[in-house]
Amino acid sequence: MGESLKGLKRTVMCGDFRESNISNTVTAMGWVQRKRNLGGLVFVDLRDRTGILQVVFGDKINEDAFKKADGVKSEYCIAVTGKIVKREAPNENIPTGMVELQGEQIKILSESETPPIYIKENLDAAENIRLKYRYLDLRRPDMQRIFKIRHKTAKIMRDFLDESGFIEIETPMLTKSTPEGARDYLVPSRNYKGKFYALPQSPQLFKQLLMVSGYDKYFQIVKCFRDEDLRANRQPEFTQVDMELSFVEEDDVIALNEKLIKKVFKEIADVDVKLPIERMQYKVAMEKYGSDKPDLRFGMEIQDISDVVKNSEFKVFQDALQNGGSVRAIKAEGCANMGRKQIDKLGEFVKTFKAKGLAWIALKDGEIKSSILKFLSEEDINNIKHVMNANTEDLILIVADKNSVVFQSLGELRLHLAKELNILKDNKEFRFVWITEFPLLSYNEEENRYQAEHHPFTMPMDEDIQYLESEPSRVRAKAYDIVLNGEELGGGSIRIHDTKLQERMFKVLGFTQESAWERFGFLLQAFKYGPPPHGGLAYGFDRLIMFLTGTENIKDVIAFPKNQNAACVMTQAPDVVDEKQLKELGIDVFQEN
Ligand code: AMO
Ligand code: AMP
Repeated sequence: MGESLKGLKRTVMCGDFRESNISNTVTAMGWVQRKRNLGGLVFVDLRDRTGILQVVFGDKINEDAFKKADGVKSEYCIAVTGKIVKREAPNENIPTGMVELQGEQIKILSESETPPIYIKENLDAAENIRLKYRYLDLRRPDMQRIFKIRHKTAKIMRDFLDESGFIEIETPMLTKSTPEGARDYLVPSRNYKGKFYALPQSPQLFKQLLMVSGYDKYFQIVKCFRDEDLRANRQPEFTQVDMELSFVEEDDVIALNEKLIKKVFKEIADVDVKLPIERMQYKVAMEKYGSDKPDLRFGMEIQDISDVVKNSEFKVFQDALQNGGSVRAIKAEGCANMGRKQIDKLGEFVKTFKAKGLAWIALKDGEIKSSILKFLSEEDINNIKHVMNANTEDLILIVADKNSVVFQSLGELRLHLAKELNILKDNKEFRFVWITEFPLLSYNEEENRYQAEHHPFTMPMDEDIQYLESEPSRVRAKAYDIVLNGEELGGGSIRIHDTKLQERMFKVLGFTQESAWERFGFLLQAFKYGPPPHGGLAYGFDRLIMFLTGTENIKDVIAFPKNQNAACVMTQAPDVVDEKQLKELGIDVFQEN
C-alpha cells in the first residue's frame, strides 16, 4: 500500500530547477521515469508535467532513503525531500541538467505495474492500446505539451473575446434537433416516453435567440455533437469556439476574427499572419482548385480547356460539353516521364470521385505522348499547351464531365499529386483564405429538392434575394469560411432576421408553413419581437489545435477521443444498459439480424 502524505507538501515542480536553486531544501513529487543502481548510488529520473529532474540517493547521503529508493520501479509515484546540488556530470539536453536533488527522504505514494505502453515522446504504439490506456498515454510529455497549448489557446481566445466586449453564455445540451446537416445524437426522455432530446450539433439557434435578447456579443467554447462518418479531422463530439454579434455585416465579423487569428498564431506559434487575410469567392475557389477549402500553398491550378477542345474529335469531350459540362485540366510540372502504371493509378484515383477517365498528354522532348493522341490535331495540342502554359517535360491531366465531377476529381487529384510529388515537404507556411459568396442552396439530386448549403438561417446576398424562388441555385449567401492550408477551420454567416424572408427560405427548402413552425416555431416567434441584424462564426477548436501543435490526427488533441467507429475503447461506450433503465424510458431494443 502507498504511503500517505501526512502533511508533506510539494514545494517545487521538477522542470523548474536551475543553478539558482542550489542548496535549497525542497520536496518534489512525481513519477519514476527510470532508476539506475550504480553501486553506492541510486539515480532516479523523477517526472512531473513540467519536466524531469535527476534525484540521487546514496548510502552516505541517507541510508534508509537509499535502500527504499533502490526498490522503486518505473511509474511508481513518489515524493522526495532533499537538497539541490550541482551535478557532477551535467546533462546539456534537459533544462534541469545542471543540478540534481540529493534524496534525504523518500515516500512511495503508490506502486505501479509495468505499464503496457512506454511513457516517452514519439511513442510508436498501436492506437487502440494508446486509447485503451489513455490515462498513461496522456502522461507522455508530447501529449502533455499538446494539452498545455490547447489550454493556452482557449485562454487567449476567451481573453480576447472578453476584452472585445463579448460575454460567454452556456446553451443547453439537451435540446431540440438543430439543422446543421449531420445526423443527431438522441437522448430518450423518461418523462415523455417516445420523445427524444437531441444533443446540439452547434448552439446555432440559441445564439440567435440570445441576439433577440440583446446580448449583442455572445461567445462560448462549447461541445458539439454530430453523428457522421469520422475522418482524421472529425470526431463525433468536438469543440467549437462559437460567437454571434448583433448590428454587424460580413466585414465586421471578418475583421474581428482576423485580429483574433493573428493574436492566437503570434502568441502560440510565433507566426505573423499578414492582415487582411486574402478573400476568394466560392466560384473562383471551385474553378481554380476544385474545392471550397483550397490549399493555396502550391499552384497546379485547374484550367478550363473547353473552348480549345470544343472542335476536337474526342467524343467524350463533345458529350461532356453538350451536356452542359466542361473539359478541364491540371499540369504536373516536369512529370512527362511519369510511367504508364503510375498514370493509370491516377486514372483509378479520379474514378473514385466519379470521373469516367483521365486523359493525359505528356510533352516530351521532341515528341508528344497522349492517351487521346488519335483524337487530337497538332493545333488542338498546341492550343491546350498554350492555355495550360505548359512546357516540355510537363504532363497535362484532363477530365471531361459535368462540372461537379470535374471540379471534385481534379481538385482531389491536385492534392493527391502534391502529396505524391512531395511538393509541400518542408513547407512551414500557414496559408489562410476566407472563402466568400457561397451558394445559399444546393440541389440534392437524390431527394429532389434544394437544401441549405450552410444552414437555413443564412442571409442571401441582397442583390440575389429576388431569385430566391425563380432561380434558387443562383442565389449567393452572406456566408464565409476561414480556410487554412486546405482545411476548413471555421465558418459562419450573416443571418436572416426577418420572419417573412425566413418563411420564404423555408418554403424554398420544401417546408410547409406548418412544418416550419413545428420545427422552428420558437425562432420564428422570437423574430416577431424586434430581432437585430446579426451574424457570427464558429471555429473548429480541435482543428485549430491540430495546426498549432502540428498533428494530423484530431484524436491527438482531444483528451479522451472516440475511435474511428465512434466508440471509446477505454470505457467501452457505447454499451448496453440495464433492462430496468430501458423500461423506464419505454424503449424496446430490436436486434438486427
Ligand atoms: P459548421 O458546421 O461549419 O458551422 O462548424 C464550424 C466548424 O466546426 C468544425 N467541425 C468539426 N470539427 C471536428 N469534428 C467534427 N465532426 C466537426 N464538424 C465541424 C469545422 C467547422 O468549420 N453554427 C455554425 C457556425 C455559424 O454559422 O456561426 C456551424 O456549426 O472546423
Ligand atoms: P478510350 O478511348 O475510352 O480508351 O479513352 C481514351 C482516354 O480518355 C483514356 O485515357 C481515358 O482514361 C480517357 N477518358 C475517358 N473518359 C474520360 C473523361 N470523361 N474525361 C477525361 N478523360 C477520359
